[in-house]
Amino acid sequence: MIYLTHSKTRSWGVDNTKYTLMHKSIPVAELDIDEETGAILKIAEVHCPRHLPVGIEMTGGRPSRKWLHDWWSGRSIPASRSGLRDALEALKVSSPLLLLTKCFGLSLSDQYWVRSGAKLVEWEDVNFFDNPFSEDVGNALFGRNTGNKPNLMSPDNTSDGWLKKKWVISGAKRILVKSGSPAFYQEPLNEALASAIARRLGIPHIPYSVIYEDGKPLSVCEDFITPDTELISAYYITRTAKQRGSVSNYEHYIACCERLGIPGIAHSINQMLVLDFLLCNQDRHYNNFGAVRNAESLEWLGATPIFDCGTSAWHNVLTNMIKPREDAQSKPFRSKHSDQIQLVTDFSWVDTGALKGVGEEFADILRPSEYIDGARRSALCKAVEVRVKMLESVIEERQRPHKPSLLGKLAAKQQQADMNKGQHPQSRTKNTPEKG
Ligand SMILES: Nc1ncnc2c1ncn2[C@@H]1O[C@H](COP(=O)(O)OP(=O)(O)OP(=O)(O)O)[C@@H](O)[C@H]1O
Ligand SMILES: [Mg+2]
Repeated sequence: MIYLTHSKTRSWGVDNTKYTLMHKSIPVAELDIDEETGAILKIAEVHCPRHLPVGIEMTGGRPSRKWLHDWWSGRSIPASRSGLRDALEALKVSSPLLLLTKCFGLSLSDQYWVRSGAKLVEWEDVNFFDNPFSEDVGNALFGRNTGNKPNLMSPDNTSDGWLKKKWVISGAKRILVKSGSPAFYQEPLNEALASAIARRLGIPHIPYSVIYEDGKPLSVCEDFITPDTELISAYYITRTAKQRGSVSNYEHYIACCERLGIPGIAHSINQMLVLDFLLCNQDRHYNNFGAVRNAESLEWLGATPIFDCGTSAWHNVLTNMIKPREDAQSKPFRSKHSDQIQLVTDFSWVDTGALKGVGEEFADILRPSEYIDGARRSALCKAVEVRVKMLESVIEERQRPHKPSLLGKLAAKQQQADMNKGQHPQSRTKNTPEKG
């Protein structure tokens, strides 16, 4: 085990420490990090601008300290994380930002880290892909005892998202274990449903399975990042260019991806929007998708496979309020699913026949959970099947754009009936539907 040592300097009356921002084995920039708050105080020198984190604003050829600090603090466990306060108490750390330097800022989702100026540690010796790590932070986040001297060398210090989660090692694999939220603990089961739908439709995805601990379901998935690759969130991709007022969020994202040279983005967005429509996903925010690049050559490999679909399928809605036909809130491009699905530019790849029986598959996923009773299970399975029918209608409408609307159809039917009775259609009186 290697412990950090600090080379302290004093400037403007604040204690700070010299670090090098590293990208795998490439020194990127010299930083001053305040060891009392964990904040980046200064960017002293930039060695390799190409390897700076994506989407950091540059002024006069230099990265903005504020943007780099926001990126750095965005690596820490968010304040919204369930159980964070108790975990910090158990770990004897006052803020999540202070946990970052305890693990060199290393993550299992990208290849950035910081090296203390005083100790020349090598990436090969510390990265979490190849080296063991402590489960103390993960256990603290799950409310488990971590003893008096917790070991803070953990990728859980840099994990995002509000749900309780921890990284564990299984053989050579790195596995993310994620919980659900009360009262139904449905998110892990929804991850498995999403995997089933994505598998049936041929959408690249991270397969999630479900395990049970203390009667509660947890989702389990493998790290889709390797020592050679990294995940760049859509949030940072959108920050690589200014968005003009007349450009929609969807157009801006596609344009940024095209500018960066990320291959196949329009198709993968089509796939994501279709899946989210089926799942009634309400939380596809800009950190729940993005792109993968090679961390050394910086070559973009494509969109991320689908991950994090837990906040969907009416996960927090009381059973009698599950209304799949009602329009629902969506992200990231439009606020309603009925609008967002219209952004899909091509449905030709969607084989809705492959979704036959998906309700039953969802029932099998839900059945072992003590938190989902029979009535809820049945309502959820029916709801997902209704979403499949709704998708079929959207696709049908797209194929026949001039098809009359329901109101139009009713009007035509009435007209025909009037003509059969020998009545002039114009002479109809009240209660006749107007053409839609
Ligand atoms: N399989 C994976 N491999 C690598 N990184 C991952 C993987 N799954 C998730 N991540 C990273 O961890 C972050 C948090 O995971 P995830 O989005 O699943 O958590 P969450 O708590 O459900 O998030 P949210 O707050 O969006 O609901 C992701 O934004 C992503 O950066
Ligand atoms: Mg997430």
